[in-house]
Amino acid sequence: MSGRLAALVTGAHGQLGHDLVTVLGSRPDVLPVWGPRHADLDIGDAVAVERYVGDWASSARREGAARLVIFNAAAYTAVDAAEKDEPAALRVNAAAPGFLAAVAQSHGARLVHVSSDYVFPGDATTPYPEEAPVGPLSAYGRTKAAGERAVLTAAPEQAYVVRSAWLYSAHAPSFVRTMARLERSRDTVEVVTDQRGSPTWSYELAQGLLALVVRGAPPGIYHCVCAGEASWYELARAVFEELGADPDRVRPVSSDRFARPAPRPAYSVLGTFRWDREGLPALPHWRTALHTALARAAVST
Ligand SMILES: NC(=O)c1ccc[n+]([C@@H]2O[C@H](COP(=O)([O-])OP(=O)(O)OC[C@H]3O[C@@H](n4cnc5c(N)ncnc54)[C@H](OP(=O)(O)O)[C@@H]3O)[C@@H](O)[C@H]2O)c1
Repeated sequence: MSGRLAALVTGAHGQLGHDLVTVLGSRPDVLPVWGPRHADLDIGDAVAVERYVGDWASSARREGAARLVIFNAAAYTAVDAAEKDEPAALRVNAAAPGFLAAVAQSHGARLVHVSSDYVFPGDATTPYPEEAPVGPLSAYGRTKAAGERAVLTAAPEQAYVVRSAWLYSAHAPSFVRTMARLERSRDTVEVVTDQRGSPTWSYELAQGLLALVVRGAPPGIYHCVCAGEASWYELARAVFEELGADPDRVRPVSSDRFARPAPRPAYSVLGTFRWDREGLPALPHWRTALHTALARAAVST
């Protein structure tokens, strides 16, 4: 990468945002990262976004930044709560990213907007390609699909929409941390076998997003997930194995066992076809990433 990169990370205290700040902060060719927490910047507040991005862009130019990039890791991620308050989710997941894309473009900055496997209906049997038609089942999925459209309409030549899936991290609540906690507190745990996806460590996704920007890949939609696929049951067993516990303490059940407000796609594995065609570095297999995450004792509570 020639010249220094200036990065602004929204949602910097979420799973992905935190890891993005860590990954970007370790690079000598990246200026000190601006990572506002939700209380510092509500991305749904257009006036605040315009002012904040303007301040950041001016500062970056003064520091001699060669490239400006906004990573939007902020989102309304309460999948079940969104069923009851879709307008609230829409404000953060669709209206805000569209506005962020327009403001980024006006400052000559690229936007990396993160989207979700939940934009797909989940009736596939092989990994979804980037160009597959979306068909969300849930309110959350609808708002994420609307966010993709808003971003690509506002800044088709500048913005990346990167779909990822089944994120877990070291520092925030996630399925992996929940399984680690239940391993300590329960004899057995029931986990569903009939939902398959692409478990992805947020730290690996953060590295992937940086690689996309550094490479200067063409704008548009990409999928970025750890390789391979698993059911929640298989992921839970893998967590138990990593912790040295008997994986047979994880009991297979079907989704009917846990009625939840938002329907989940049965099969939402993402194919990284375009990512691979662009020669971007593949993320490790989900099992390897899980091992690394847990070996670092990162995901332990
Ligand atoms: N988690 C997954 O399994 C998954 C799967 C596929 C895609 N994704 C996508 O990946 C991205 C990152 O997800 P994540 O798991 O890192 O989410 P997360 O841990 O829930 O973090 C989201 C962050 O956004 C912040 N936020 C919410 N509303 C905001 C607003 N109006 N203005 C500014 N910040 C706001 C939250 O702050 P508060 O908590 O203080 O509100 C939180 O820090 C999201 O776009 C998500 O849709 C996630």
